[in-house]
Amino acid sequence: MTHTAFEPVSLAGIKLKNRIIRSATYEAMADEKGFPTEKLKKLYINLAKGNAGAIITGNAGVQANGKASLFTMTMIDNDDKISAYREITDAVHEYDTPIIMQIVHCGRQTRSKITGLPTVAPSAIRDGFYSEDKPKELSDNEINEVIDNFVAAIVRTKQAGFDGVQVHLAHGYLLAEFLSSHTNRRKDRWGGSTENKYRIIGEIFKRAKELVGDYPILVKMNAHDGRRNGMRIEEAACIAQMLEKSGCAAIEVSCGCFEDNLYTIRSEKLPAEAAMKYTFKFKKLPGFIKAIAIPIAKTFIIQPKPLLKYNLDAAIQIKKAVSIPVIVVGGINNIDDINDIIGKSKIDFVSMCRPFIIEPDIVSKFKKGTQAKSKCIMCNHCAVMLEVQPLQCHYGRLPKTKS
Ligand SMILES: Cc1cc2nc3c(=O)[nH]c(=O)nc-3n(C[C@H](O)[C@H](O)[C@H](O)COP(=O)(O)O)c2cc1C
Repeated sequence: MTHTAFEPVSLAGIKLKNRIIRSATYEAMADEKGFPTEKLKKLYINLAKGNAGAIITGNAGVQANGKASLFTMTMIDNDDKISAYREITDAVHEYDTPIIMQIVHCGRQTRSKITGLPTVAPSAIRDGFYSEDKPKELSDNEINEVIDNFVAAIVRTKQAGFDGVQVHLAHGYLLAEFLSSHTNRRKDRWGGSTENKYRIIGEIFKRAKELVGDYPILVKMNAHDGRRNGMRIEEAACIAQMLEKSGCAAIEVSCGCFEDNLYTIRSEKLPAEAAMKYTFKFKKLPGFIKAIAIPIAKTFIIQPKPLLKYNLDAAIQIKKAVSIPVIVVGGINNIDDINDIIGKSKIDFVSMCRPFIIEPDIVSKFKKGTQAKSKCIMCNHCAVMLEVQPLQCHYGRLPKTKS
């Protein structure tokens, strides 16, 4: 049977109006304690009004040392936040749109300067992007604490009325660090074989399922990254099978980590000027060094290719390995490709991030036939600027915000 983009469909019991999902997008619209704000609620309402098939929230933190080093992250680390999220899910449900919360522990991809706590990881290996001291290797007790905090967060998302939860296993965050031999060099039962590297995730599923039953738990995972000894599609397909056995409801296929230069969020040109002006890593450098570094970076840091549909081949391979629904993200920006991915390549769902930032109503436009392609120019200023301000489209311009 051939599927189409705009047919109503069910994903693990969640009813969607179409197969085009808003992929998780960090919004930086929480207050200082991690509570969601009115601004965030409005953003989700706009996506729902614009006919997104389902909304996956920006990643919310499960515990303090796993918080991102970006502007105001939403947290799901305490029961006191449940009622605030309930207001959001109720508002979005008025538009018959499901909303799924993505949860994360950032592992070594954060800064202790921001969290106020030492960074932690499966093994004490310094992150090439964050360049802090080596993270602390998690002890057995600390791993169990992480598992408990993920489980508690999953329970909270259900209590808050989310239609499902997506556990972030991608982009180099803590659970991706466990899965990848590049970052997991442990010799105990949490490292070594694929089964051992997966153990922390299997435990999260096992303990969560006992508490939430058939509440949908999805994942976003890396099929590959640019790291030596990192994730590769063959191992990712095995992990996908383990996830299916654990009771995972759907797998979103992505790639990359912070160290590998926008491999996850691809663009034709490196956003070097914006990065030099606004990111912690470069903004304090003297002006003359920046002036030299910008052209050098643009010449020598080669942007990963392809720019479009870059996880599709991997998603096709993962789809062959499992029978649960597969979602593909990454460089999908027009309705013809979406129809092909769903109709010909037989991937169950597509998801997009940047196209929804510039046009929250992109799905309505595709459906009405008034527009066939996103207006996003993939400049990536939206991502760079998250360090200093809430999410917005900058359309290739350098924002006026103070650095
Ligand atoms: C501003 C911005 C914020 C993002 N935040 C998240 C996030 O919170 N969780 C996540 O899994 N991916 C995040 N991503 C990655 C996207 O979900 C997506 O995987 C990537 O941008 C490729 O999709 P696209 O080509 O449709 O933008 C973010 C990307 C951008 C540009």
